[in-house]
Amino acid sequence: MIGIFDSGVGGMTVARAVEQLLPEQPLLYLGDIARTPYGPKSAKTIEEYSIENAQFLIDNGAKVIVIACNSASSVATNRLRKECNIPVFEVITPAVEQAVAQSVNGKIGVIGTRATIESGLYEKLIMEKRSNSTVISKACPLLVSLVEEGWLDKRETKMILRRYLSFFKDHQIDTLVLGCTHYPLLTNLISHRIGKRVQLIDSSKTVALYLQKNLLSQGTLLPVPGHSPEKNKYYVTDLTKTAQRMADKIFNRSIDLLQA
Ligand code: DGL
Repeated sequence: MIGIFDSGVGGMTVARAVEQLLPEQPLLYLGDIARTPYGPKSAKTIEEYSIENAQFLIDNGAKVIVIACNSASSVATNRLRKECNIPVFEVITPAVEQAVAQSVNGKIGVIGTRATIESGLYEKLIMEKRSNSTVISKACPLLVSLVEEGWLDKRETKMILRRYLSFFKDHQIDTLVLGCTHYPLLTNLISHRIGKRVQLIDSSKTVALYLQKNLLSQGTLLPVPGHSPEKNKYYVTDLTKTAQRMADKIFNRSIDLLQA
């Protein structure tokens, strides 16, 4: 069973991609709604929350962990790999590989939470893979709460995005990494604002491909014939109506959200 966690509903964009690519693979999700957002918190706190989330998934049968949160991926991956005795996947490396491969002019923008941007990990990994790149990063701390609230198409969300994305105006980026798993839910607004010539990197599908490649080649997880995504389990640390509404919307079906 694949265990996936995020600070809230954003990681469901990753779970959705994993379900689509690996429908016969049982999946267990934990959204830490009670403590969202992670981005403004310290690395130490995000690390502690991540360990607790991983432990919940392991206790409930996960054999592989996916950190479907860039904030946690940037500050807690090493500790999780050290303390969990099972494979731990993060979402930053796949996004970096995709961005580096797809950018033509090497000018790559990254948007993410404060924790992710302040960690400097995207910049470091992009420069390691392609040293002639220019990386322009911008923290967009308000976006996670707007998505958790379901404000995906509100005027206020558009205004805030305009303000954040104007930062990239004079940088001629041709690629923008959505360095937060909540942001793919704002793809249309972001694309409209940043312009169609800038390609957006949503790493969810790449993460799913990564899992498929690694798990199948190592034989870590075999598909379970007869399993279907409807049997996957979706937990949250606080069962709210808003989270339920968002889960149904993200998966485009009725999800039976459970209290962790
Ligand atoms: N989806 C998480 C991420 O990718 C959001 C973190 C937060 O709660 O701030 O960073």
